[in-house]
Amino acid sequence: MADKIGPVTKISKELLGLLNDAVARELQVSIQYMWQHVQWSGVKGFAVHNEFQSIAVAEMKHAEAIAERLFYLGGIPTTKPTPIFVGTTLKEMISQDVKDEEGAIILYKQIIARARSENDETTVELFEEILSQEEDHHDTFTTLLEDL
Ligand SMILES: [Fe+2]
Ligand SMILES: [Fe+2]
Repeated sequence: MADKIGPVTKISKELLGLLNDAVARELQVSIQYMWQHVQWSGVKGFAVHNEFQSIAVAEMKHAEAIAERLFYLGGIPTTKPTPIFVGTTLKEMISQDVKDEEGAIILYKQIIARARSENDETTVELFEEILSQEEDHHDTFTTLLEDL
């Protein structure tokens, strides 16, 4: 019987698990930011509601790119987001978003290190690109929070 044809690159179960954690987080924040975009209120909300929307779309693109990579490597992308927190006031919303971006930065640095140790350069490059965007999001939310 012929061997099953699989990807040339093989990664550990642990790294596949980390990639699925990343998918779950990206699904979470894409929904979270989009519903914050819908539910914003107050005069200061005028300045931020478009930011929520454009970052939500960026997060959905991250979810797609990571899920594509995970599936290529033999995993099945989760459909379950990590817990979503929308909040009611802008301060509540953006305080949570800053924490979620921090969490993404920590996780993605961990994924980059792990992928590098497993010689999976494509995953390294993908996450380096996404990481720089998460740092931008973190910077944006931190700046917005200072004015609230
Ligand atoms: Fe993201
Ligand atoms: Fe982000």
